[in-house]
Amino acid sequence: MIATATTSSWLPQAASTQSQGVDPAFYGVYVVGAFAVILVAGLAMTFVRQFPRKGENERGLGDARPNVKLQAAWVLAALGVAIYAFTAGLPGFLDANAAPWMSYRVLVATSQDGYKFTYPNGHIADTLHVAINRPVRLDATTADVIHTLHAPALRLNEPVLPGRTAQAWFNATTPGTYELRSAVYGGDRYQDMRTAVVAHNPADFDAWMIRVSDVFAGRTMEQAGELLYVTKGCKTCHSIDGSKLVGPSFKNVFGHQFDTREGVRITADEAYIKESILKPNVSVIAGFEPVMTPFEGKITDKEIAGLTAYLRTLSDLGGKPAGADSTTAKPAGKEVAAVAAPAAPATPHGGK
Ligand code: HEC
Repeated sequence: MIATATTSSWLPQAASTQSQGVDPAFYGVYVVGAFAVILVAGLAMTFVRQFPRKGENERGLGDARPNVKLQAAWVLAALGVAIYAFTAGLPGFLDANAAPWMSYRVLVATSQDGYKFTYPNGHIADTLHVAINRPVRLDATTADVIHTLHAPALRLNEPVLPGRTAQAWFNATTPGTYELRSAVYGGDRYQDMRTAVVAHNPADFDAWMIRVSDVFAGRTMEQAGELLYVTKGCKTCHSIDGSKLVGPSFKNVFGHQFDTREGVRITADEAYIKESILKPNVSVIAGFEPVMTPFEGKITDKEIAGLTAYLRTLSDLGGKPAGADSTTAKPAGKEVAAVAAPAAPATPHGGK
């Protein structure tokens, strides 16, 4: 559950370094403001008693002269309060606006459906997990209307405006679970715009990250492949609906035949797909540039198997996947033998 423990009745529990900039300024302005209210109300009541109207024609203070010194003191005191409020809040404000260099950067996508957090390793979650004593920078965008990142315990309050990237940061100091919600009305499901920030000890955070970023946990190979398609960045160059992006569409790739730029006909079987991911520029499909990043060293065999299982589901020649664990891919011989190609032209893929 959301931690509601408070150390004072005025501000929620302070769980980030940001409270050093916010809390003293808040209390200072609060005390000065309370004093001013008591002073003004007290004086007003005293004067009402002291100078009652005595007759029909009396004009209150009569012809008493204004006391210039008192008036000047009053104006200067008010100015002093304003200057104090500004200078007390300024350091915390400036600090909150500049995330430290090398902060842990999490991308936040907000929409009326809620929050989505994307971690540096590509893991996507709907609660924000962080390690304590490590500055976290949030780069937030909204897909629809204004939302805010509002986490009182972390002294975080950042509006996220359409068409802009809002930047906020915090450095959690106390492990715990803190409420994060939107503090502006953003549609009739606004009440659902709430999630949590979970601050872990660094070791716990690393363990959590390793556990959840295992894309295969709780997923079939096909589902893991579908997720990897997004998190490994394949999506930026390969569509799944047949349309041509930088690379050929993944629709109807698996099992189909293609010509390379050298005029060699290949069959996109498991071995070829594996090679295409590890060393894409060895054989380049006709009509495309060798611009795909080689994934050698950046992807595991199991991830390739997951992606291949996913590619099968997108192909009418995909057939039955080779079982839940298709790491045991059959060593399909690579057909780079130049099949004299009079037959049907290579399946059009990539669209027009
Ligand atoms: C920078 C853009 C880019 C990214 C990112 C990218 N690719 Fe590619 N990919 C290409 C291009 C361009 C080609 C065609 C040229 C070639 O064969 O090298 C291609 C070809 C392929 C092929 C062979 C397709 C065929 O029709 O035979 C496969 C399979 C493939 N990519 C898989 C992947 C996977 C899986 C990922 C993600 C892990 C990925 N690609 C990421 C650009 C990209």
